[in-house]
Formats: sequence, structure tokens, C-alpha cells
Amino acid sequence: MHPSSTRPLLLETKRTLREWVVREKRGGKTIGLVPTMGYLHEGHASLMRRARSENDRVVVSIYVNPLQFGPSEDFAAYPRDLAGDLDLCAGAGVDAVFHTSDDQMYAPDFSTYVIPDALASNLCGASRPGHFRGVCTVVAKLFNLASPDRAYFGQKDCQQVAVLARLARDLDFPLEFVVCPTVREPDGLAMSSRNKYLSPAERETALVLWRSLALARDLVKRGESDAAQIQGAMRALYEGKPGLRTDYIELVDPGSLAPVSRIAGKTLVAVAAFVGKTRLIDNEFVAP
Ligand code: PAJ
Repeated sequence: MHPSSTRPLLLETKRTLREWVVREKRGGKTIGLVPTMGYLHEGHASLMRRARSENDRVVVSIYVNPLQFGPSEDFAAYPRDLAGDLDLCAGAGVDAVFHTSDDQMYAPDFSTYVIPDALASNLCGASRPGHFRGVCTVVAKLFNLASPDRAYFGQKDCQQVAVLARLARDLDFPLEFVVCPTVREPDGLAMSSRNKYLSPAERETALVLWRSLALARDLVKRGESDAAQIQGAMRALYEGKPGLRTDYIELVDPGSLAPVSRIAGKTLVAVAAFVGKTRLIDNEFVAP
């Protein structure tokens, strides 16, 4: 925990954020940015602590970005708790929180988007059309507004990390892109703001994601290298469970996100499933 644990500065407009950034930069301070949609948990806090340890100033954005939600997704219901979020940010030693409104972020005639290509076509990109366009557009705006020296993202959202690292490189954002490990509950469930939606029974069902990743790791450790075999064994864990619907179970190359048929090197195992109405994702690396 940051020694002072004082409340972060609350910046509610793009102008106040810019003024803060310009002031800090003029004073020679480095800035770490942690973009979030709020309802913060230990996963987010781990990014903030990493940013705290590597930068003079840390700014967290809390913005539920409408552009990255599909028409039938949970934008309106997405959990929000600004007071709790500010407490968590204070505990992690965050200096400033950027929390603004939709009309600040998107002018009524907003019409310029950042559209990722290859990396956004499969996995979550396949089942959430337009999602990564929304993520890339808002993150590009946040990069421009906060001019961070470093930006922090969680491996939990593995495709987001791949897409955004590519964005930063392709569009020449002068920042270091930092990826932080997934923080889990003691029983293995990846922490997520969406876990709030789960009933106790669904919370139990949700463990299948982590268990299937553990199974993949075990199979690879025992010498299995056939991706279809591993996928089949994983899929069997999901079958017949009430209230559970698999979205995808994929073994992909961590760089290109292209499916692999054999585990020849470091491979990303990525899963997504609906538990009731809640869509959860998780992933793990395996290597022969
Ligand atoms: P959100 O889901 O709030 O996540 C904010 C950041 O926290 C992301 O980089 C995410 O990968 C990371 N994170 C979430 N759960 C984590 C966990 N259990 N362990 C480690 N890191 C975790 O991702 C978004 O918001 C948005 O798409 C955003 C990038 C802010 C753009 O709107």
C-alpha cells in the first residue's frame, strides 16, 4: 500500500486531465496509465501497484465505454461503484482518477474509429462484433489524453492485450506496453467485475473455465501435443452442465492468435463461456 493512502485527484473532464498531464510532464514526472471500466477489484489493483512502482505518477481511467458493448450486451447493467473505486485507488497509491461522461468522450457527430484487423477476427472478436473497434478507439483516445510513459493491461483479457499492443506499435504511441499476470480468487476463478452477476450456483459452475485450463496444462505436461485432443478433453468438462454454454475453447499462437494444431512452442489456451447470462473468459499459457 502507498504510504500516504490519500484520495486521488478526481479529474472529470478531458481538459482537467490534460492540464494535470501537462503540469506533471513539465515537472519531469513519468506517468503510468491504467485504463479500466471501474467496479475495481484486486486484478485492477495489481496493475495499479505495478504502475506505482514504475512511474512518478499514476492515473487510472474509470469509464464504462459504450462503444465496446454490443446492442444485446450488458452496458446498462455493467456494475458501477465510484466511491468504492476511489477507495481502492487510494489504497494502491494512485495519484489521479479520470472519470468522465459519454458526451466528453464522444461528440454527437463522433465518426473516427480505430479498427483492428487480423488479431480481432477470432476468439472474442468473432462473438462480439465491433467490440475491439470500441476498445481500440477508446484506448487510443486515452493514450492521447494521458500521454503515458507506460500503460498497464491484464493478461486476463489476452486478445485485448494482443490487439492493443499491436495498436500501440502500429500507430507509434511512444509508450511502454506492460502486461500483468491474471489475479485469481483462491479457488482459481479469474477475478472479473462481471463475477458480481453470478449466483452462488453459477459461481460454482464458473470454476469449469479454470479447471479446463488446468486440464490442458496437465495434458501438455504429460506429453499430449495434439490440439484437437486437448480441446476435446476440455470440452467434455463443459458438456451437460446446466446453465453453461461454451463460446470457444481455442489453442492459439500467442503472437498471431492463429489456431495451432500441435503444441510445438509456447501456446495460449483461451476459453469463453456463458454461465447463465454472464459471459466469462480466461486463458493460460502452455508449453511442451
Ligand atoms: P476492465 O475489464 O475494467 O479491465 C481493466 C484492466 O484490468 C484490463 O487491462 C484487464 O485485463 C485488467 N484485469 C481485469 N481483471 C483482471 C485480473 N483478474 N487480473 C489481472 N488483470 C485484470 O478491459 C477493460 O476494462 C476495457 O476493455 C478497457 C481496456 C478499459 C477499455 O475500455
